[in-house]
Amino acid sequence: MKLILLKCVTDMVKETIELESEEDTRSLARSLTSLLAPGHVLLLSGDLGAGKTTLTRYLCQELGIDQGQVASPTFTVIHEYHGGRIPVAHVDLYRLGPGADVMDLGLYEYLERGFLVIMEWAEFMTEALEYPTVKVHLKLLPDGTRLAQLEISSS
Ligand SMILES: Nc1ncnc2c1ncn2[C@@H]1O[C@H](COP(=O)(O)OP(=O)(O)OP(=O)(O)O)[C@@H](O)[C@H]1O
Ligand SMILES: [Mg+2]
Repeated sequence: MKLILLKCVTDMVKETIELESEEDTRSLARSLTSLLAPGHVLLLSGDLGAGKTTLTRYLCQELGIDQGQVASPTFTVIHEYHGGRIPVAHVDLYRLGPGADVMDLGLYEYLERGFLVIMEWAEFMTEALEYPTVKVHLKLLPDGTRLAQLEISSS
C-alpha cells in the first residue's frame, strides 16, 4: 500500500489507495487514527462486503477498544464503544436505506460529548454533519482487491 497521510494545510486531500489484504486495511486504520479526534466523523460508503466493518474494527483496535465489542450495528443502528482513547459511536444506516433520516439518531449529541462517529452506509444520509469529516469510499474489485478513496477536509 502506497500512502502517506499528511496533515495538510490545504482544504481538501483526495487520495486513492489499494488494499490488497486486511493487513493493508489495518495500515489504513493506523493512518486514519492519527487524523481522527473526539467530535470528528468518519463516513464509510461502498459496496456490500467492501470492508467497512473491517476498517471500523481495526480503527477501534488502534484506539484501544476491545475488538470483541465491535460488530456491525445493523439492527440497532448505533453501537457505543468505550474503554479506548476516544469513545466511538458506530452507526450503520443499511437498515434505514437511501434517504435515511439521521436527525433522530442523536449524532450531534454524540459529537458534542466527544465521541468519534463512524458511519457505515453513509451514502444513505442526505444531510451533512457540520463536524470535521473524513470520507472513505470502498470499492470491491473482481479480484478481491479493495480500493479506498479518501477525502479529508480540514474543517
Ligand atoms: N482489505 C481486505 N482484504 C481482504 N478481505 C477483506 C478486506 N476487508 C474486508 N475483508 C473481508 O470481506 C468481508 C466483508 O467485510 P466487511 O464485513 O468489513 O464488509 P462491509 O463493507 O462492512 O459489509 P456490509 O456492506 O455488509 O456492511 C469479511 O469477510 C472481511 O474479512
Ligand atoms: Mg458492515
